[in-house]
Amino acid sequence: MGQEKIRVAVVFGGRSTEHAVSCASAGLILSAIDHDRYEVLPIGIATDGRWVLVSGDPARLALSPGSVPSVESVAVPGSEITPVGGSAGSGLRVTSPDSVPRDLGAVDVVLPLLHGAYGEDGTIQGLLEMTGTRYAGAGVFASAAGMDKEYMKLLMSARGLPAGPYVVVRDREWRSGSGSGERKRILDEIAELGWPVFVKPARGGSSIGITRVSAFEELEEAIEAARVHDPKVLVEAAVDGIEVECAVLEGLDGGPPEASVPGQVVVDPGSEFYDFEAKYLASATTMRIPAPVPDSAVAEIRRLACAAFDAISCEGLARVDFFYTTTGQVLVNEINTMPGMTPASGFPMMWAASGLPLPQLVDRIIQTALRKRPGLRLATRGAGLAVAAGPRAVLGLP
Ligand SMILES: Nc1ncnc2c1ncn2[C@@H]1O[C@H](COP(=O)(O)OP(=O)(O)O)[C@@H](O)[C@H]1O
Ligand SMILES: [Mg+2]
Repeated sequence: MGQEKIRVAVVFGGRSTEHAVSCASAGLILSAIDHDRYEVLPIGIATDGRWVLVSGDPARLALSPGSVPSVESVAVPGSEITPVGGSAGSGLRVTSPDSVPRDLGAVDVVLPLLHGAYGEDGTIQGLLEMTGTRYAGAGVFASAAGMDKEYMKLLMSARGLPAGPYVVVRDREWRSGSGSGERKRILDEIAELGWPVFVKPARGGSSIGITRVSAFEELEEAIEAARVHDPKVLVEAAVDGIEVECAVLEGLDGGPPEASVPGQVVVDPGSEFYDFEAKYLASATTMRIPAPVPDSAVAEIRRLACAAFDAISCEGLARVDFFYTTTGQVLVNEINTMPGMTPASGFPMMWAASGLPLPQLVDRIIQTALRKRPGLRLATRGAGLAVAAGPRAVLGLP
């Protein structure tokens, strides 16, 4: 008996600084997704926010020193589409001015392969909730909480997860100007962290806007550089140790989350830290899987990765990043609710090393999403494959 394929809208690109990384993530996923099982509708969000149909050719989405992929470069000409939320049951309706909408049919689930603002921060998740569309990954709250490093840290520490010391630099306090008491108080607080420190936008990603600062004199400039990306800035004491990542998947059928074998990020020796270059462009940056840490630390990292996942009520998938310090301590650095899926990214590599090759990993992420009810997506325990249940989201095209 022939079975209808499951229609998956793979949405990528987006308005954030991580546009190119998202394209590269989509490139890998589109090359690995099981086309016998899934009918894929690739949708790009341009850097200016326009939604367009795109070519899903993975080869055109690779990120390398000589080529920075973009939605603009793979857009199908004249395919501009505008998402309109709203009327009950209509789902994600896409229309365009000056033309009669052509129905693209329906999608069963959206895979928002977006990193950073307007993608990993709860905003597109909110849009999909409003339209009653099933989607993969974290919901509105977990996305927003994971994106904002201040609240991420507050939730982690509330659950007793270990992290290093930091200072939050808020817009109002900073704008009070140099020489003001408030700014001085913050700078003094930062100086107490000791040097070096890492200065980062609170809601950034891919290391964009991050500076390692080794002296007080460089601090204000680094804060201004981070403020280009976010008016709220975090300053953290530099941790002395190696970086270890651990990938997490939501448990099957309501079970507890599952953690992968952890891997170490071995940063290109030419890079000062795991910055954008080192992450995506330097050939010498590699993952060492399993991470070279004692068994007890591996167990601790996997336990903490699941605890971090639960601390923000994450769903679907996440990558939790740690430091393993020179004194043998495990500290949480951050959680990424839509981790990079590029060929250089830890998430797919760590699952492959844990016995879950990429096609099966993608399958699991989509199947987990399909099991959830659209709308306030409470898990439907034991409901099995819920493809036929509930309205499919409708997509129209000019
Ligand atoms: N407190 C810290 N100590 C040492 N290195 C850090 C610290 N914070 C950030 N880094 C370095 O900067 C990189 C990016 O920081 P991170 O907080 O993960 O931001 P992003 O969300 O952009 O990935 C880390 O992978 C690490 O190399
Ligand atoms: Mg990071």
